[in-house]
Amino acid sequence: MAETEPQAGELPARRVFVTRAIPAAGTDLLAAGGAQATVWSGSGDAPGPEELRAALASTDVLLSLLTEQIDANLLAAAPQLLGVANHAVGHDNVDLETATQLGIPVSNTPDVLTETTADLTWALLLGAGRRIVEADRFMRLGNYRLWGPQLLLGEDISPGGDGQRKTLGIIGFGRIGEAVARRARGFDMAVIAYHPSDPERVRASELARPVELSELLREADFVSLHIPLTTATRHLIAADELQAMKPTAVLVNTSRGAVVDEAALVVALREGQIAAAGLDVYEREPTMATGLAELPNTVLLPHVGSASRGTREAMAKIAATNALAMLRGNPAPQCINRAVYQSAAYARRASRLW
Ligand code: GLV
Repeated sequence: MAETEPQAGELPARRVFVTRAIPAAGTDLLAAGGAQATVWSGSGDAPGPEELRAALASTDVLLSLLTEQIDANLLAAAPQLLGVANHAVGHDNVDLETATQLGIPVSNTPDVLTETTADLTWALLLGAGRRIVEADRFMRLGNYRLWGPQLLLGEDISPGGDGQRKTLGIIGFGRIGEAVARRARGFDMAVIAYHPSDPERVRASELARPVELSELLREADFVSLHIPLTTATRHLIAADELQAMKPTAVLVNTSRGAVVDEAALVVALREGQIAAAGLDVYEREPTMATGLAELPNTVLLPHVGSASRGTREAMAKIAATNALAMLRGNPAPQCINRAVYQSAAYARRASRLW
């Protein structure tokens, strides 16, 4: 592996294909690093599978967004590919197992979006719990004619009328789940968390009490999802789980849509099995399950968890930094399949760099 980093313009490999426009901070960084970045500019909203396949066959590094499915077929069609720099913390859009087998490093953009996503989670929790969107619509429609003591009643978040602390249940106690828990202190909430991949992480934290999923669903007044989408977590929240929640409970999802069975959620919201939902993500984005948009007890956002100007700029820079490292044959700082660098498959790919 190269001991010293080549200067701009001396990259052993240079071509980066960016699947859709990212903040200029990212593309500027690529250019300053000597990369030749091509941003997709085809017709339609996003590159189709054939366009992606053609682009991948003639690029050194792919800088992808979460909307692009980087599957096994695509990866197999790019024997020269030196890495995939995903512009997202989630990476369920990339077939990581195949990438690793084929010797392709994959990176993501963690940390910089933790607080931003936790903020948006709280916006959804407060918005759905206190019926903010419904109330806004009520005003705009000119329905506010007389104040009344029963008007648009929502759920308590801090200890309210009954003086009881409310319980926030966090499913997935990673960086974002923990940041959401930290904010709950300001609302004097009790926090319980289910973190199946590493229960010790909750135990070691003073922010939450570790529980099993069944207890969390039974006890929580607010359930917030922060678990990555894997085959094990697909439909983790389905009809039975929704049924197990309190009828006053609010479900918030800023992780991945398919963690929830969205059709079952529509039924649960319609039939009053739970009180409300705040969703930033959907099972089949950008489509929503039939009936979801008609339900008044929902707050629905278009996957904007990390969408602050500063955070998106930082994500673009991280993705670009990872891509530049891949072009140089250096380990990408945010590589998520680090063992790949020890593999013969990677050595074969990277052999042209040195
Ligand atoms: C957004 O959903 C991300 O994974 O960055």
